[in-house]
Amino acid sequence: MADLTLTGKNPTTLTADALVVGTCSTSDGVAVVADQLPAAVVEQLETLAPRLGVSGALGEVRTVPAGKDVAADVLVLTGLGEREPDGTFAHETLRSAAGSAVRSLAGSDSAVVALPAVDADELGAVAEGALLGAYAYTAYRADQAAAKQAPVARLQLATSFARSAEARTAAARAEILATAVHGTRDLVNTPPNDLFPASFADAAKTAVKELGAKGVKVTVLDDKQLAAGGYGGLTGVGQGSTRGPRLVKLTYAPAKATGKVALVGKGITFDTGGISIKPAAGMDSMKSDMAGAAAVLHTVVAAARLGLPVAVTGYLCLAENMPGGNAQRPADVVRMRGGKTVEVLNTDAEGRLVMADGLVSAVEDGHDTVLDIATLTGAQMVALGKRVSAVMGADSVRDEVKVAADTVGERFWPMPLPEELAEGLRSKTADIANVGERWGGMLSAGLFLREFVGETPWAHLDIAGPSFNESGAFGYTPAGGTGVGVRTLLGFLEARAAS
Ligand code: BES
Ligand code: MN
Ligand code: ZN
Repeated sequence: MADLTLTGKNPTTLTADALVVGTCSTSDGVAVVADQLPAAVVEQLETLAPRLGVSGALGEVRTVPAGKDVAADVLVLTGLGEREPDGTFAHETLRSAAGSAVRSLAGSDSAVVALPAVDADELGAVAEGALLGAYAYTAYRADQAAAKQAPVARLQLATSFARSAEARTAAARAEILATAVHGTRDLVNTPPNDLFPASFADAAKTAVKELGAKGVKVTVLDDKQLAAGGYGGLTGVGQGSTRGPRLVKLTYAPAKATGKVALVGKGITFDTGGISIKPAAGMDSMKSDMAGAAAVLHTVVAAARLGLPVAVTGYLCLAENMPGGNAQRPADVVRMRGGKTVEVLNTDAEGRLVMADGLVSAVEDGHDTVLDIATLTGAQMVALGKRVSAVMGADSVRDEVKVAADTVGERFWPMPLPEELAEGLRSKTADIANVGERWGGMLSAGLFLREFVGETPWAHLDIAGPSFNESGAFGYTPAGGTGVGVRTLLGFLEARAAS
């Protein structure tokens, strides 16, 4: 994690590799917008903008020599697009512009960020974007290319209210949040030969200890305990692998809690499809099929580090879906935790099987709300593309998640659970089948999960596409694991804590 400090000094006087300022498009050209930048510097840049090819569009980043009036070596001009009607910039715009700029500085050591932030919330958004953009996954690189890619190590945020308590709180929150997102990305990016259910469970213990998540208790059920405990979903999916399944429970229960929320995450450390095996092309991206569990782990850790006054239990449903000699077959019937039987018609619809056990556990433990998050269906991407996640479930919880997502700047969209699709999940042999009709696959999956939450208010987040970026980096989002979901889940918990 880059080291982040606040400074009230004039940013042009600060020595650094780069000084980041904003540009935006106005009715009469390009404006330079930055915190505390001297008028002369602003005027010069605005005059030169057309010749520098700077338009101020969001996502645009231009690096120019800084000139004698600025102590930093270069100026990084990052586009903010257009102002909101009230003259400010949207928080997500600030995050994204800060992220693009900092990302472009990979290989440099230090940067001063002087984007316009009129209050602590805006400052927090700039801090988040900058820290989220300062990420690279280099754990497995022995070559020198890794050093060139290293993210900026030191970030100074220039702000006129550097000394205010609100500014410090906002920066501290941004640091905790970015640590959680980075931790999630790291787990998603970890190769599946090294990340399997048992090593994921170890990683959960390590994260709790090393990040100082005080008061978080970790318990692990191994494959034998899961079989003995009647967790037929985890057992069935995990039995095709030599590396058995695990159910990790993370408990954060502060003294003065305003409520008790369960977070259940899908943690398929690799999804081959099992006997209903997937095509070879693109199968490598199925190392990311544990992104939901990673997000849950780091959300619980962050909630504890923030000291949120709400009890949170995380359930990580960990298994590797492999076609080994003992793998489950299409037509197998498994008995889930709680007793419901499921006919496994397609072993590639494994996520809902492990999630069912997690959801039942969450309900057994008594929670006023259950949220689950999973890379559950390819149909999610058909419906919403690679950058917009889906949320479905009980109307009020679904809407609460949507509000939380909007507030933190993650893109989620509400989806229905049409009753008629539930018929498609009927089984000739068991209580329910694990696949339904062809159309609306994301919704059928949601309806399947609904069978296991009883009366508990619940919402389901399908992050199949957005959790893993197979294209180029953009804004504060890198290629590979994105860490999506962490900020929404935290935003949800923060809103509950404030209510
Ligand atoms: N892990 C996949 C869903 C997925 C696909 C996530 C692509 C991210 C990218 C899930 O286990 C799966 O295979 N789902 C099947 C369900 C089908 C067999 C009903 C799917 O979506 O094709
Ligand atoms: Mn699958
Ligand atoms: Zn899967």
